[in-house]
Amino acid sequence: MTHKTLLRGGTLITASDMFAADLLIAGERIAAIGRDLVAPDAQVLDVRGKFILPGGVDPHVHLDLPMFGTVSSDDHYTGTKAAAFGGTTTVLDFVPLDHPTLTASVQAWKAKADPKVAVDYGLHMNITRWDDAIRDEMARLPEMGITSIKVFMAYNGRLRLQDGEIFQALRRARELGLLTMLHAENGDVIEVLVEEALAQGHTEPVWHARTRPAWGAVEAALRGAALAQQAQAPLYIVHMNTAGEVDVLRYAREKGLPVMGETCPQYLFFTEEHLARPDGAKWICSPPMRTPADNAGLWRGLELGVLQTVGTDHCPFFFDGTRPIEYEGQPVAIPGKELGKDDFTKIPNGVPGVGDRLPVLWTKGVVEGRLTPQQFVALTATNPAKIFGLYPRKGVLAPGADADVVVWDPDLQVTYGVQVAQHRTDYNLYEGWELTGFPVQVFLRGRLIVDHGEWLGQAGQGRYLARQAFRGQVL
Ligand code: URP
Ligand code: ZN
Ligand code: ZN
Repeated sequence: MTHKTLLRGGTLITASDMFAADLLIAGERIAAIGRDLVAPDAQVLDVRGKFILPGGVDPHVHLDLPMFGTVSSDDHYTGTKAAAFGGTTTVLDFVPLDHPTLTASVQAWKAKADPKVAVDYGLHMNITRWDDAIRDEMARLPEMGITSIKVFMAYNGRLRLQDGEIFQALRRARELGLLTMLHAENGDVIEVLVEEALAQGHTEPVWHARTRPAWGAVEAALRGAALAQQAQAPLYIVHMNTAGEVDVLRYAREKGLPVMGETCPQYLFFTEEHLARPDGAKWICSPPMRTPADNAGLWRGLELGVLQTVGTDHCPFFFDGTRPIEYEGQPVAIPGKELGKDDFTKIPNGVPGVGDRLPVLWTKGVVEGRLTPQQFVALTATNPAKIFGLYPRKGVLAPGADADVVVWDPDLQVTYGVQVAQHRTDYNLYEGWELTGFPVQVFLRGRLIVDHGEWLGQAGQGRYLARQAFRGQVL
């Protein structure tokens, strides 16, 4: 018999509404939403005083990503488990193009992920070289359920494409119903500045930020928007980090260009000053943290709807990978940021965040009055699901949708940090932050997987999500 759960007496939050209702889960789906629902065969949970949210959709994570001779410390199990604890039930991970073909790269990545994932997941494809074979094989991506590609204007000699290649990738993506995602920085300027900094003996973490100027990101975002216009293709600019990028995005959107933007929590709170601390390597990611004015500009971008999503770019590394932590009862140590103690260019790029996103954004966004609860749901669940071809299966509370449901206690006070977050790493960017509001129960397709801090889930329970083509629905 189909298992049923009735969440009785909560307040539902969607991207457009907030209302008191019961929510009935039957099997893997939401079966009904309404007042005083009757379901005699359902297990009833009293959720009075709680909010009910759709499970978060994180459009930007990197799990088990090799970098600089090591690997990001959350794999597809530990990272998705951490996501679940933070109220996120869908993640979109990136496939590196590190096999001769796209197909082989996707197959190898899925083979790694499928046995481990603990929430549902989809894949973006990195296009990091451009030739006729790649252009032709891109047609296979929709068949594999991949409807987005990422291209890079930075990471010279490694991941970067030239502008003409990005233009061609955009046109090909449009033809195939794929959405192009852009890493917007100026690779050439970065290359010059890094060479100069090292020649002058500047090895400290803060030089990571000083060699990746904000104007390079602003210029690259505008260049990307202009390329998208010329290719008549939609574009999604990832990890936007400067106020100037928000200005550029607003300009492009006002001109009718099909361009959207994502930011990440770290760019809302931290600045280059954090990289100047003795433990500054903890904040190293690309693009880097900027200034308080950039933090403020990004918040404005969220408030005004210029930015459509908040992802995380979750890509954690240990701060000190020589010292084991305990993870599920076992000691674990993975080489991390210490690899660059004498040279900032050798510090693996990336920060933890997939589990932090919802709790931190709720307190700093909703509780502190910058975002409405509905904006919070739109930015963290509904918009990513719509943009990346998962709606209305994911990102929404509605009959027929997957029962990815979060019971959120708005009164729970949590002193946050590495012990609360479930990431497999040895630090947390929000250490000691006082949060108000936290997910207490998390359902993945009807199954309770987090219950008041207890893990009820398991590796492999997540499902691969074949996504729908991008149909031009720019938000
Ligand atoms: O530092 C970061 N963000 N690492 C992941 C790669 C990327 O560009 O998103
Ligand atoms: Zn990037
Ligand atoms: Zn990334």
